[in-house]
Amino acid sequence: MYNKKVMDIFLHPKNVGEIKGTKAVGTVGNQTCGDIMKIYLDINKNDVIVDAKFKTFGCAAAIVSSSVATEMIKGKTVQEALALDNQTIIDYLGGLPSQKIHCSVLAKEAIEDAINHYRKYQAKVEKKNKK
Ligand code: FES
Repeated sequence: MYNKKVMDIFLHPKNVGEIKGTKAVGTVGNQTCGDIMKIYLDINKNDVIVDAKFKTFGCAAAIVSSSVATEMIKGKTVQEALALDNQTIIDYLGGLPSQKIHCSVLAKEAIEDAINHYRKYQAKVEKKNKK
């Protein structure tokens, strides 16, 4: 079902875990299967993602795409991370079975959610500092 590259990454995924204390945490659920994906980002004051980790109850495709997505956004700005296209992840993997494409979208959506939380937190801090 999965190609060799996907299987290799599945057996040795990168960035599994969490980042303690960060406000940039995103959680999404997959409506098709009910699985959950959580992404943690460490973003510095220049809006650069210095670290990214994930935890998921998802399948192999979800684990592999999250491993690749977190690797791709490390060292990128928040804006660049938001521009990450799901097809880029799939192409990098050399394709996924069509019934597993919905799993690969989880990482991108969780990254967006984490960035949203980060921005909301930043806005709150700025507002507080202005008082
Ligand atoms: Fe749920 Fe793949 S089947 S994430």
